Amino acid sequence: MNGIPFFPEQASKAAHEVDLIYYLLTALTIFFSLAVFAGVLYFVIKYRAGSKVDRHHPPSHNMKLELAWSVIPLFMSLAVFGWSAKLFVEMQKPIPSRDALEVIVIGKQWMWHLQHPTGQRENNTLHIPVGRPVKLTMISQDVLHSFYIPAFRIKMDVIPGRYTTMWFEATKTGTYHLFCAEFCGTKHAEMIGSVVVLTPEEYEQWLKDNQWGMQSQQRIETMAEQGAKLFTRLGCNGCHAPGSEGGPPLAGMYGTQRALTDGRFVTADDNYIRDSILEPQKMVLSGYEDKFMPTSPGIEEQQILQLIAYIRSLKEMPAAAAPINRNEAEG
Ligand code: CUA
Repeated sequence: MNGIPFFPEQASKAAHEVDLIYYLLTALTIFFSLAVFAGVLYFVIKYRAGSKVDRHHPPSHNMKLELAWSVIPLFMSLAVFGWSAKLFVEMQKPIPSRDALEVIVIGKQWMWHLQHPTGQRENNTLHIPVGRPVKLTMISQDVLHSFYIPAFRIKMDVIPGRYTTMWFEATKTGTYHLFCAEFCGTKHAEMIGSVVVLTPEEYEQWLKDNQWGMQSQQRIETMAEQGAKLFTRLGCNGCHAPGSEGGPPLAGMYGTQRALTDGRFVTADDNYIRDSILEPQKMVLSGYEDKFMPTSPGIEEQQILQLIAYIRSLKEMPAAAAPINRNEAEG
């Protein structure tokens, strides 16, 4: 296949195995198509009109043959299913424990907005280091989009109202296509960009080169720092600051099981926090039945993700020691 690009480059850890499954399915399809065609051709010629063959006592059934063509393909398809499901789960489940780079993705008509945990923002371009897992937390601001990097063999819908996640590990430096793979309006075809895979050193340099804000000479803040400011600005600290009686304390809360008033238990993950900010009445925490949390009209997806980053940053802190924002922590 030299010279004819049947496949995009294999530039992620999963790419090779995805292609193997694809080759296997193609080979199986070709094999069975040829087998059926060959059988058809053989019988068409053998039993053509006028040929002198024995047509007496045609067999009505053949148990061994029927079992064989049912059971063998059954196990073959189960094997393909098992292998694909294993790979699918590996590609969806949260990262291996190695330090992953967590990037947020916001899809909107018609562009990709990305932000690094250290605060750097990008539009339609994503810079990442080679050889390090990258976890994407994605949401749409309007309609369905789909985040697709062919060279990494990954594609995941980006949905309004709910976070979807995906991870990959790039294995080669270079620049690769980034597409929206879901028809999302008249300019869907323009919703394209590129993923630039850098060496770890180049990535550190890129972060440094982009650590200053657009207008000011101020160093950009990390997502958690931006979230901490927002936490105060929106008045969340009125009830959720350490020691406050108003609402449930947030330090150490991320990732734990939460008991709700209706008897359910939910895990405090990104989607839980997002829902709790936008629809506080949907999942009321046990013990807070009579507390009322106001919503924040007009809050943007970007801001919710910053608040989540801030709340996550409180994860390891004991409840009493958590600062409500950076300035207080330093002062
Ligand atoms: Cu976004 Cu198509």
